[in-house]
This record gives sequence, C-alpha cells and structure tokens, in this order.
Amino acid sequence: MSSQGPVRLQKFLARCGVASRRACEELIAAGRVSVNGAFVTELGTKVDPAADKVAVDGLEVSLPDEAVVLALNKPVGFLTTMDDPQGRETVASLVPTDRYPGLFPVGRLDGDTSGLLLFTNDGELGNNLIHPRKHVEKTYLALVEGIPDDAALDQLQKGVLLEDGPTLPARARLLGSNAAQKQAQALGWQQGPRQRIVELTITEGRNRQVRRMLASVGHPVRQLHRVRVGSLELGGLPCGQWRLLTEEETAALEALATDC
Ligand code: URA
Repeated sequence: MSSQGPVRLQKFLARCGVASRRACEELIAAGRVSVNGAFVTELGTKVDPAADKVAVDGLEVSLPDEAVVLALNKPVGFLTTMDDPQGRETVASLVPTDRYPGLFPVGRLDGDTSGLLLFTNDGELGNNLIHPRKHVEKTYLALVEGIPDDAALDQLQKGVLLEDGPTLPARARLLGSNAAQKQAQALGWQQGPRQRIVELTITEGRNRQVRRMLASVGHPVRQLHRVRVGSLELGGLPCGQWRLLTEEETAALEALATDC
C-alpha cells in the first residue's frame, strides 16, 4: 500500500486493522483521528502511508509489515481465539505469529469443528470477509444422524427458522455412498449405518449455525468440517498445517470481499 501513494484516511485506518472502513469513518467524523498532530474530521482527507503520522485517540497506527493471508486446516479441540484466559488450546499455537505479527482468525470455527480457517493481518480484508452484507459462501461437510430426505434438504435450502431468526437460502446435498465413504475415511470419521454426510453451503456466520440448521430438520450433527470459504478450497492441506495463500488466491478473496 505504501507504494501506491496517497490513500483516503478511512481506507488507511482500516488497512491498519483499526476497524471496518465504515467504523473508521465514524472515528474520523467524531474528531478522534489526527494526521501529523492535527485532528481531521474531513472524510475525503488523503494521507501518504509512507510519510504521514496518523493517530487514533493519540495512539499512532501503522500498516502491518507485510499483508498476508493464510489458510489453516484446524483440528478439532482448538478454540478460535488468539488468547484464552483459561489456558485452553487455541489456534494461535498453530500459526506463525512470530513471523507475521498481528495475525487474527477471519471468523470462527467451533472447538469441535475442523477444517478451513483463514488468518490475516490485513484488518480491512478480514473485516470484509466476515461482514454479514458480503454473504461470502462457506461450505461444510456434516456427518449427521439419520438419512435426510428430499424434504429436509429442500427445507435447508429454502431456510429454516432458528431461535435468532430464519436462515438465508442455502445449498444442501447428500453425498452419495462412495463419496461419503471416501470423505469419512479421509477425515477419520466413523460413519454408522444410519448416518449420512451432508454438504451444506451457507452465506451467513451465525453461532453454531450449521449444527442448529441440521438439528432443526431432525438430523443432529456428529462431526463438522469446513472445506471452502468464498473462492478458496481447503484441498489437501493436512490437518493442523497452514499455508500462505498465493497472490492470485488473495486477490480472488479481496475481489469477493469488496463486491457488495
Ligand atoms: N456452523 C457450526 O455449527 N459450527 C461451526 O464451527 C461453523 C458453522
């Protein structure tokens, strides 16, 4: 970003990870942001990231050294937080926080969910990817009790009523027996005779949403694994391992997150 010359103040603040671009506009309008020591309330103000000193509430902010996005194949049993006051296992121990300071998880997976979890030190990209208005798709494989029929799958697709409101339309399909067997084996899942694997794609990120959706149509989830976020597939990344995204992969996520 520093090589791109002057940028709008709110964009600079968001890239520094201060808050979403909209929330940064509010900080500016509230007179909490200074440039080279002078408070600024004009939203069109431009700053040169290489030369100007920007502060929020008197504290100087700066761009992360190198903006990175990485993918982790999260194992079951790790909490999605960078710090747990109770000392439980967290995803922070699985990603290179020394090499890339300021990394944070993009959204969250439950402790008992495995699969694709993105991390970045780019506050704006992270905020955009989880923004409810962006409707970024997330695809899960769920090992469920019972054999969902067409009516149950149809209901999941149209939306189900949860205690925090109806869900948006989704995509749901039952894996065929060969595909299910292959997936169960790859994930180390024991698939009982009255259990099936459902692939569910949702565009929201409510608390335990997939588990609650499937339970609401009579099929409690026994195992849950995320295989895709937006344009990025987990692919063959081994459990517990991370990798940096390529420039193309990062650009594709950025394009998704900026389209509205
Ligand atoms: N839905 C869930 O129920 N759990 C997750 O971890 C993610 C989505």
